[in-house]
Amino acid sequence: MAKAKIAVLGGDGIGPEITEQALRVLKAVADLCGHSFEIVRGLIGGAAFDQYGEHLPADTLKLCRTSDAVLLGAVGGPVEQRNLPRWKNCEVNSLLRLRKEFQFAINLRPLRIYPGLTRLSPLKMENLVSGVDILIVRELIGDIYFGEKYRRQENGVTAAYDLARYDKSQIQKVADFAFKAAETRNKRVISVDKANVLETSKLWRESVEELISDYSNIKLEHMFIDNCAMQLVKNPAKFDVLLTSNLFGDILSDLAAGIAGSLGLMPSASLNYNGFGLYEPAGGSAPDLAGKGIANPIGQILSIALMLRYSFGLEKEACIIEQAVEDALNTGVLTPDLAGNQQEAVTTEEFADRIIGIISDKDYRDGTD
Ligand code: NAD
Ligand code: IPM
Ligand code: MN
Repeated sequence: MAKAKIAVLGGDGIGPEITEQALRVLKAVADLCGHSFEIVRGLIGGAAFDQYGEHLPADTLKLCRTSDAVLLGAVGGPVEQRNLPRWKNCEVNSLLRLRKEFQFAINLRPLRIYPGLTRLSPLKMENLVSGVDILIVRELIGDIYFGEKYRRQENGVTAAYDLARYDKSQIQKVADFAFKAAETRNKRVISVDKANVLETSKLWRESVEELISDYSNIKLEHMFIDNCAMQLVKNPAKFDVLLTSNLFGDILSDLAAGIAGSLGLMPSASLNYNGFGLYEPAGGSAPDLAGKGIANPIGQILSIALMLRYSFGLEKEACIIEQAVEDALNTGVLTPDLAGNQQEAVTTEEFADRIIGIISDKDYRDGTD
């Protein structure tokens, strides 16, 4: 029996709605398998600003520090309101600071296109998308995100700078994680860069190339980011592990989720090298959906599965959740982003109800042992 404390930071927009539904799923699995999780909620983002006047209060940091894992919903407000004090620099002050504070250098964004969902892909050609199973391994605390940023006047015009920085050890650590992950999969790694132009990318490619000599069983290919974006759309099944720097990974992961049909499908795990992890969907606060009870909770529910796997070593429990999501989708239980206009859609809560129903079903349980 596992016992653990989980810090839950619902955040903004759809964040609280989808985290609460995902926690119901966690409880169902915990009850089934005899585990006990202590859930402690904290504030982050605009929600924290209202109470503390800051986006990442010391209380929240302390809660994370004293927990075994962190579950996060989303931060940030409507894009058109980003200059209001509540939202100004919200993502940088909260999420990016949290990533840096806990050194979450590795970000895993897995994407499967389930057999029953191929018709939902905007690519529409089932032969292109069936069997897509990609693991994006994104470096998360370097690159243009965290380098020096400034503005200055140059000959009467305002110029802005964002410095991108990588060092060899930073690159090789995340590459090593990607190679090890590939060993448990199809043993193919595509490393993405822009080494025809960027100095950081040249170092990225050299560093990855140097490390591959330790992995004779892995097939490594380098691909420029522009070509990679095109190949992902044209032939997603070609990809197994996709190793990327921070900014390229941000863009490619939304692109990959779009191939599956919705940003709401993609979970993520942000891990440090001491085994501590933060789990959140790849998508954002979706202000267009907030408060309506219709957001897709799958990315958040699958993030719980990743937490069980990577933070608590509960592989069977992670698989129970993943299988339940697959079964629900295969039987046509779809939130509006997946159902489109053609089919009847369920709410966020009804989707979670269905997952909990599947998990609690005795016949289903017997089949998974
Ligand atoms: P977004 O990811 O919130 O939304 C993009 C599109 O995807 C929208 O059409 C939205 O409806 C849809 N979508 C996202 N999640 C969904 C879900 N669970 N179910 C169904 N549809 C979903 O990105 P955006 O609109 O560019 O940004 C909105 C806010 O979110 C901004 O403040 C941004 O900074 C923030 N953001 C936060 C995170 C995070 O907290 N990790 C990630 C991305 C964006
Ligand atoms: C993500 C988000 C964040 C990022 C933002 C909100 C800082 O888009 O997790 O993908 O760019 O990493
Ligand atoms: Mn993103």
